[in-house]
Amino acid sequence: MSAPREHWGSRLGFIMAAAGSAVGLGNIWKFPYMTGENGGGAFLIIYLGCIAVFGLSLVLAELLIGRSAQRNPVAAFRHVAGRGWPAVGAMGIVTAFVILSFYVVVAGWTIAYMLFSVNGSLSNPDADALNAVFDHLTAGTWEPIAYAALFTALTAGVVIGGVGQGIERASKILMPLLFLILIALVVRALTLPGAAAGLEFFLIPDFSKVTGATFTAAIGQAFFSLSLGMGAMLTYGSYMPRERNLPTDALAVVSLDTLIAVLAGLMVIPAMFAAGMTPGEGGAGTTFKVLPAVFDAMPGGMWFALGFFLLLAVAALTSSVSLLETVVCYFVDEHAVSRRKATAYSAVAVFALSLPAALSFGLMADTKLFGMTFFALMDYLSSSITLPLGGLLTALCVGWVMGPRAIDALSNQGRIHAPWAPVWLFILRFVAPLGIGWILLQGLFS
Ligand code: PFF
Repeated sequence: MSAPREHWGSRLGFIMAAAGSAVGLGNIWKFPYMTGENGGGAFLIIYLGCIAVFGLSLVLAELLIGRSAQRNPVAAFRHVAGRGWPAVGAMGIVTAFVILSFYVVVAGWTIAYMLFSVNGSLSNPDADALNAVFDHLTAGTWEPIAYAALFTALTAGVVIGGVGQGIERASKILMPLLFLILIALVVRALTLPGAAAGLEFFLIPDFSKVTGATFTAAIGQAFFSLSLGMGAMLTYGSYMPRERNLPTDALAVVSLDTLIAVLAGLMVIPAMFAAGMTPGEGGAGTTFKVLPAVFDAMPGGMWFALGFFLLLAVAALTSSVSLLETVVCYFVDEHAVSRRKATAYSAVAVFALSLPAALSFGLMADTKLFGMTFFALMDYLSSSITLPLGGLLTALCVGWVMGPRAIDALSNQGRIHAPWAPVWLFILRFVAPLGIGWILLQGLFS
């Protein structure tokens, strides 16, 4: 018999760990440049719509499956829905693995930038110099690989030790600190000369720029940011005791994640305009290229830079831990492998797959599949295809296969007052499958 399942220490512990999974590079690195590339304000509104309609319902659905089953994604789908459904969990685990393999590359850059903050590389805030620093780092061969390897090792170190003690405790202190630094940076970015145009671009929608691809990007980003569609939330839900109030916890996690993404937008996009960059120009380097100029315009800028990149690395770590935990939890539960072995093998495999991602900006920049570098392809396949697809299937599973059983479980057998639960079920049955399905097809054929 296996040992009884570990549970989160407290309600705050769960919220911080789940928010730790949700808040990460997706909010601070990806959201601002996606918004820049997809038309600004219109993207923001569509993104917020995706969070409100699909995101919240699906966070609840995933947590519910996990909590009901108290198992990893494959076993959990089997437990709540029976034959055939474990494939959805398996797709999630493969997706987690793919996301982790490019995530560690970007997370590695944040470690490099911690060093750059103190060694003077960022002290010349001229735009060309900052572009050169980023390009030099990412186009290298050994440096990006070494940083990605270091970050993979850090992630594995935390997962081997179990999530509860280390990461739950650290998140409770470090997440609020990140929040405070973000607020200071938002204030500084908004008061830079030329920032107003960026604020306008971010907040005033121009719907003439919206295409099918905008919707695909928004929904993919919403899923990525909320750690949805691949079993991470489900796995975290499986460590939740059954009597917890799921809806309030889910709402807290979704709100925190969205707030941090919007703050990151308010920080990066005005700074982009202040630096004379056109939206979409900076690509995956945007955050790294524009923020040093913001730091430089602050008293004690070097410390802000160091603090910011350190906390970004921590935010990335709490997310990468949840990705690796999803994979490891499966092997430990289903194949009776020790946590230590499962973590070590998975980390080595992640490192191997991270190599082409790490080299996508240099040695392999011209190696393209379907017109994309490995890095872009891994991001596209996971964010735009498998995450929404996983979300769609999760909605069908909870909406139709669990059906009224889901409402019963959600309300803790009627002990929690949830008069809106039928609306939630309606969304899972009709709105989410049709909406996500339509967006997926738009993306594939536009
Ligand atoms: N939500 C994380 C972020 O926004 O950076 C990324 C992520 C973590 C995606 C865990 C998926 C996941 F399962």
